[in-house]
Amino acid sequence: MLANKNILLGVCGGIAAYKAVEIASRLRKLDANVDVIMTQAATKFITPLTFQEITGNPVSSDMWEKVHNWNVEHIALAKKADVVLLAPATADIIGKLASGIADDMLSTTIMATTAPVFIAPAMNSNMYINPILQRNLQTLQQLSGYHIITPATGHLACGTNGIGRLPDPAVLVEEITNYTAQVQELKGKRILITAGGTREAIDPVRYIGNRSSGKMGYALAEEAARRGASVTLVSGPTSLNVPAGIEFIKVETACQMQEYVDTIFAASDVVIMAAAVSDYRVRKIAGQKIKKTTEAFTLDLVKNPDILSALGKRKSTEQILVGFAAETQNLLTFAKEKLQRKNLDMIIANDVSQKNVGFNYDTNMVKIITRDAAVEDIPLMSKKALAAIIIDKIRNLKK
Ligand code: CTP
Repeated sequence: MLANKNILLGVCGGIAAYKAVEIASRLRKLDANVDVIMTQAATKFITPLTFQEITGNPVSSDMWEKVHNWNVEHIALAKKADVVLLAPATADIIGKLASGIADDMLSTTIMATTAPVFIAPAMNSNMYINPILQRNLQTLQQLSGYHIITPATGHLACGTNGIGRLPDPAVLVEEITNYTAQVQELKGKRILITAGGTREAIDPVRYIGNRSSGKMGYALAEEAARRGASVTLVSGPTSLNVPAGIEFIKVETACQMQEYVDTIFAASDVVIMAAAVSDYRVRKIAGQKIKKTTEAFTLDLVKNPDILSALGKRKSTEQILVGFAAETQNLLTFAKEKLQRKNLDMIIANDVSQKNVGFNYDTNMVKIITRDAAVEDIPLMSKKALAAIIIDKIRNLKK
């Protein structure tokens, strides 16, 4: 899987820098082409010559020293990389990346790359659990293209036991291998994803909306595109950046969403309805701002189309239909009932009354229910990590 892939290994100044030698060696044995950038601090722990001998490539550690025959070294390295692995990643480089500081060879190169960046933090436990570091990791985790590898727990160089060890080089190399293996597994599949909340106008300044941030749907779109699928994302208004490499359609109302979804549906292999669709809309939108002339005020609402139910009625035997169920009570019962009623292949149920779950959070904790009534409990995790699990499960659905 890694043969002829360009892996950029960033080595920072920590005692675990010596383990990066084994990482480079393992990557080479898998026929990857490995370029190494060391921070100045890393060169105090281990010499560039070691990496140069193992990788057969010159090692960069100084912005101002040309080691390759390239015009602008950090841009060339950034462009060349298929995957970047930072191991060990210190609190310093994590802080720099999270705040956009690019002041040495490693940080400028990472800033310039569009390749996925895997960050393997390794440090003393107290440094690792420091809220500033955790905040920085969270910032990166939320950005598209950054993947944090949780450190191992055990004996640390400072003499204590705890979290902060660089995972075994074999584990890190496996992570990169799995990632590259997944990359094209959905090639040729067309996946339609909806995200965000719809808005129904009341008058020119007001609307009926909901608390959906769109984060779950965007994470799914990003993950599916990363694995090679052709993704169309139909989204209600959100404040999120559009993931790279997807077709993006912005809508406002449930009816607009239905119009686009209906058109694209026939050509889709998989549809994931992650959008929080408004169930009702205002019967007659006021042409002018409504004035507060009365003590009480009633809105006349009419039911919106149920986009997913309509797809359930039309779907062919090959198409996969996935829905979400946001509930505040009787999670499993309601979700199972929705799976049947809407003729879905899978439903992802979240209890949005719980802390850190569902609407607007970066994390989610769900139950995934399939047609055979199997229920899988997924613990609290980032929406990005959950997106990978959901896409895995969809891929494994037998049709
Ligand atoms: N959905 C839809 N069109 C609607 C409402 C919901 O396509 N008008 C989709 C959602 O995108 C989601 C699933 O149906 O995938 C379940 O949505 P949810 O709001 O949990 O359920 P509702 O069908 O609205 O049922 P209820 O309001 O009774 O909970």
